[in-house]
Amino acid sequence: MTLIQRSIRPKSSDPVRCHRPASSSPRVIYPFSSPRATGAKDLSFFTYHLLRTERPQLRIRCTHAMSSLAYKEMDRFSAPARLMIVSDLDNTMVDHHDPENTSLLRFNAMWESIYRHNSLLVFSTGRSPTLYKQLRKEKPLLTPDITIMSVGTEITYGDSMVPDEGWEVVLNKAWNRNIALEEAGKFPQLKLQPETEQRPHKVSFYVDKGHAQEVLKSLPGIFKSRGLDVKIIYSGGIDLDILPQGAGKGEALSYLLKKFKEAGKLPLNTLACGDSGNDAELFSISDVYGVMVSNAQEELLQWHAENAKGNSKIIHATERCAAGIIEAIAHFGLGPNISPRDSLDLLSYKPEDINPAIILVTLYIAYERWRQAAAENYESFIQSLKTICHPSGTIIHPSGVEQSLHEWIDTLRPYYGDKQGKKFLVWVDRAFTSKIGSDTLLVKFDKWELTDEGRNGCVTTFVLNSKPDSPGSFSLVHIHQTWLEGFAASTDDAWIF
Ligand code: GLC
Ligand code: MG
Repeated sequence: MTLIQRSIRPKSSDPVRCHRPASSSPRVIYPFSSPRATGAKDLSFFTYHLLRTERPQLRIRCTHAMSSLAYKEMDRFSAPARLMIVSDLDNTMVDHHDPENTSLLRFNAMWESIYRHNSLLVFSTGRSPTLYKQLRKEKPLLTPDITIMSVGTEITYGDSMVPDEGWEVVLNKAWNRNIALEEAGKFPQLKLQPETEQRPHKVSFYVDKGHAQEVLKSLPGIFKSRGLDVKIIYSGGIDLDILPQGAGKGEALSYLLKKFKEAGKLPLNTLACGDSGNDAELFSISDVYGVMVSNAQEELLQWHAENAKGNSKIIHATERCAAGIIEAIAHFGLGPNISPRDSLDLLSYKPEDINPAIILVTLYIAYERWRQAAAENYESFIQSLKTICHPSGTIIHPSGVEQSLHEWIDTLRPYYGDKQGKKFLVWVDRAFTSKIGSDTLLVKFDKWELTDEGRNGCVTTFVLNSKPDSPGSFSLVHIHQTWLEGFAASTDDAWIF
């Protein structure tokens, strides 16, 4: 019998409707709270430190957290962001040499559990929207708050990627893409990039390192003689982009910072992250910290040596890609740099850093490892789930089928280790917590899975009950999932939760 065939109740459309279990005094439990665990990679150990309330020191920490901003419904832009990360994607956030995506997943878990609720994530890529969407299908990327594409020529906001039309107006000034295309097209050394990468304010070519210098020398004069004020950027030892002078990753970031400042919401700290030539501009903006990841390209390191050597706000990390970003957060003291995937001692968290999102981030890491048979054994995961889920709690599968949480847990046995040796990545995205009652929290997030069959995702709501006299302890009383548009699994039973 499959997971959903067992279900008997009708579809519910209201995620909050059944959040209160029938029992008048819900049992308060500690998810994955087994104190027997010892290994540094052990999740039980990890959450044990987070949620155990027998330890007075931690009880104080959690109490503070309950009353802190982390528990209120956050208007994302009601206050300045605590940290804004502006990161390039290829070979910075995404390590194309790491098929396991280890450091990207570490970053994701850190971001969702510590930063998402009060910080801003900005991706700044050379890719066009088409190639950016392609990368999202292939890699376990979070959804950024702001996406800057096509080398700083396109800025969009949110999940639905609403374009910044004001930026388009700025770039239209003194730009004529036909002239750019016509003049550059006269150079036989330049090979036009694919159609998707030719954008309203970006004309792009390939040129090998051997020919780049001569082209870069002659082009500016030619454009000048045609009255065109352009910027020419060489990246990755192969790509040559021609943009309006006022465009580029740095100009786009300055534009955003100016907008935030005008609104009185300048982020408290901004960290720019990159690896290649088109990222250099990001490191020229004052009051912005910068990390060139360890695997940075020669052209960026050379730019740094010539232009920013004495600047202590810019580092060349010792770690590759997303691990280099995590390293920079620690180096500049921008906040905690602990990822739940590393299972480090949570005592190093400060009260204001603790967010309920950490519970679901940890839960899904344990779930990924359980299906891969990588860490948790069958029984300890099931027992932990039973402990966290309230006996009269319910789950609504994205197919619409509703079931008792405990009955559902009993159907999970066949899935233990079924992804062993296969690609199976799980991550939490856009996690936000709101307090919907004196002892009830609602955490809404997107939960993603990436397998060889593709990417599937659900908008997910967890309703957690906390006990006022035992802050920091939660009981999961309801789970509700609906498919994210375009990301439904091919069959209903290919998705568990
Ligand atoms: C990305 C874009 C490409 C651009 C390069 C460097 O690879 O797809 O058009 O030339 O970044 O900016
Ligand atoms: Mg790059």
